Amino acid sequence: MEKILELKELKTWYSTSAGIAKAVDGVSFSLDKNQTLGVVGESGCGKSVTALSVMRLVPMPPGYFAGGEILWKGKNLLTIPEEEMRRLRGNEISMIFQEPMSSLNPVFTCGAQIMEQILVHRPVTQSEAKARSVELLHLVGIPNPLERFSSYPHELSGGMRQRVMIAMALSCNPQLLIADEPTTALDVTVQAQILDLIGTLQADTGMSVMLITHDFGVVAELCQEVIVMYASRVVEKGRVDQIFSNPMHPYTRGLLNSIPRLGSRNERLHVIEGNVPSAINLPDGCRFAGRCPFAEAQCREKQPLLELCEAGHEVACWKAIDSTYADEIKSRLMQNII
Ligand SMILES: Nc1ncnc2c1ncn2[C@@H]1O[C@H](COP(=O)(O)OP(=O)(O)OP(=O)(O)O)[C@@H](O)[C@H]1O
Ligand SMILES: [Mg+2]
Repeated sequence: MEKILELKELKTWYSTSAGIAKAVDGVSFSLDKNQTLGVVGESGCGKSVTALSVMRLVPMPPGYFAGGEILWKGKNLLTIPEEEMRRLRGNEISMIFQEPMSSLNPVFTCGAQIMEQILVHRPVTQSEAKARSVELLHLVGIPNPLERFSSYPHELSGGMRQRVMIAMALSCNPQLLIADEPTTALDVTVQAQILDLIGTLQADTGMSVMLITHDFGVVAELCQEVIVMYASRVVEKGRVDQIFSNPMHPYTRGLLNSIPRLGSRNERLHVIEGNVPSAINLPDGCRFAGRCPFAEAQCREKQPLLELCEAGHEVACWKAIDSTYADEIKSRLMQNII
């Protein structure tokens, strides 16, 4: 497998009047060529800031990189000049944002915005860029693409706008597509269509995909690898089958338990009690300790780091790596006590 992206101990912090918000605080993971990585975790865990960091689109100030590296094909994106970053962005690496409306410009037609993206990065003529834009609109499943080329964003439905965003993101055949909750604002049928589309495009083009989502169902369908984020850090990572069949972190299990099961409609939906700690005021020890049914004194004192628990599967939990407790966790997992 060829590593295309590697984050090493990335720290993206914000200076705020209330203190330093450690939005991403020592995040490490890598993504192979042709692979789809799911990034899951509750709201405020640092998923979007991680993605924006890779694009180097974190507003600075108040944001700043407090440490670490982002290696793109071995090159540290945090130290290359902005001009070089601009050549990569929207070209080799592109992103579909969480809010499609705020990233499409309301005063230009959809077609003009896709064309612009192509013209910035490719040595093509206006008419070639137009032809490619119409082709992209067709590719992402927009009916009457030639007509839609001249539509303004507000003239389209949410699902269609999201497709335009995807067309824009794909316009230069990226090697990495970052999709930040690409379907949250859409209704279920459209969600399924858009996710199918991303899956098909990934298979056709061989690009790598980093897919941020709240939804484990989406992960199961599209991803090979998954990282679970909690309070600005990665608490577990592994192959999708490992995370689903053998979740080691109590937080991961809590997330998995909150998926409604088929035929269990009357059962109370399991949610993890409590809240994610604020990025401004993170606890010293394990950041999940305050919500964890297994937490002991050592968990509150010292932060656990990711450790291998089986080949390809890492967890940051004092209990999970201790074999006696690992057994206890497993048996409690079976009984659904967590
Ligand atoms: N401009 C900012 N100034 C201060 N703190 C910020 C800023 N942007 C983000 N943060 C903080 O960074 C943390 C991570 O935010 P992020 O948007 O990455 O979460 P997320 O995992 O994407 O959540 P969601 O699922 O809701 O999209 C949050 O605690 C947030 O308050
Ligand atoms: Mg987000």
